[in-house]
Amino acid sequence: MAWSPQSWRAKPIRQVPDYPDPAALGAVESQLRTHPPLVFAGEARTLTQSLAAAAEGKAFLLQGGDCAESFAEFSANNIRDTFCVFLSMATVLTFAADVPVVKIGRIAGQFAKPRSDDMESRDGKTLPSYRGDIINGEAFTEEDRRPDPQRMLRAYFQAAATANLVRAFAGGGYADLSRARHWYLDDHHHPDLLQRYLALVDRIAEGVGFLRTFSLADAVSARTSKVDFYFSHEALLLPYEEALTRQDSITGDWYDTSAHMIWIGDRTRQPDGAHVEFCRGIKNPIGLKCGPSMGEDELLKLVALLNPDNRPGRLTLIARFGADQVGEKLPRLIRAVKKSGANVLWSCDPMHGNTMKSAGGFKTRPFERIVKELRSFFEVHRAEGTRAGGVHLEMTGQNVTECTGGAQEISDLNLRDRYETRCDPRLNASQALELAFLLADSISQWRSRGAGLAASA
Ligand code: PEP
Ligand code: CO
Repeated sequence: MAWSPQSWRAKPIRQVPDYPDPAALGAVESQLRTHPPLVFAGEARTLTQSLAAAAEGKAFLLQGGDCAESFAEFSANNIRDTFCVFLSMATVLTFAADVPVVKIGRIAGQFAKPRSDDMESRDGKTLPSYRGDIINGEAFTEEDRRPDPQRMLRAYFQAAATANLVRAFAGGGYADLSRARHWYLDDHHHPDLLQRYLALVDRIAEGVGFLRTFSLADAVSARTSKVDFYFSHEALLLPYEEALTRQDSITGDWYDTSAHMIWIGDRTRQPDGAHVEFCRGIKNPIGLKCGPSMGEDELLKLVALLNPDNRPGRLTLIARFGADQVGEKLPRLIRAVKKSGANVLWSCDPMHGNTMKSAGGFKTRPFERIVKELRSFFEVHRAEGTRAGGVHLEMTGQNVTECTGGAQEISDLNLRDRYETRCDPRLNASQALELAFLLADSISQWRSRGAGLAASA
């Protein structure tokens, strides 16, 4: 079946907003089509190679960020803090677990949200559900909840400005390894964690300084002064994705230039649906969320549709089963994929299967459930002789109280203190760093058993 950037339009689609004025939507799409790409095809190809290395056990994928970016929280400080958490986690994984880390943010375009219900009712009034700032507003008013295509333009420019700042941080000196001490967010961390982090970065600084004095300065600086950082989001709002899909002048291939990597959500992964149709034709690396309802046959069908040439690094399967289900459901899928000979990278999203309501009515995720799912994910892969190649997290650099537990011992009662998320509960900076240390331990154990990651690349 022929593919084109608009061939998804002939397929059944889920989670689609009901725009009241199709002409206004069309006008915005035309405008977006004239706007510059946010990423380049060559960068997406480099990322594909890095993900292929992760699938081979020569690297580890760290993907994370907000559940949903918002217009209201758009600020340089927020972007910087998210970047800092990312760098500190990556530092822990790189040096405590001795593995190169592929860094992909849920940032610079992670706006659109799938919802369980199309409509929301409050006090006898029913309005369309909030679907993320790129679609409608959060306030419970008719005006805010009406899908407005102009929001796509605002999201595009916010994504561009965010990407610009992150690129500057990544390459302009902020991410120099000698600055690792400054990436932690002072007042947010549990003291034990801070001590552990500082001990690690001081050892690194000593090592880097030592190498620099041995007339290797240039070579060492080239490896430690900047980082590669990539952008990703869920490819949910297809008019936006289509408008930013361009033909690469070098290869003639189509790339979605809204992000380096995009993923298909657990609610929109129907093999004959619009989202799979769109994603199968673009050459970016693709993620596919795999939840409890995913069967082996369905997964194999999706793998064949999304990666017919079996290109390494093209497809990342993001398992999100929940701590109680991963042990039962993941092995069957791993075996089926392994038997088919398909090249995939297995990553674990320990967030989306562990969401629950607190006694006070907050949507939360207990830290210990998140850790439990991650550990089970590693265990299952060890038992199956396959590789646990990455994690996919919802986290923020802000000192929020959205997930319970962790070293700070956030309780149900604390949730109301700083509950700021637009959608799902995120790990705060301290919980994210704590998780990085636990993860580093899992990766190290795994490697010392000789069952997992190969010696570092
Ligand atoms: C998400 O990643 O924010 C999300 C909605 O995930 P899932 O599709 O796995 O539910
Ligand atoms: Co989420």
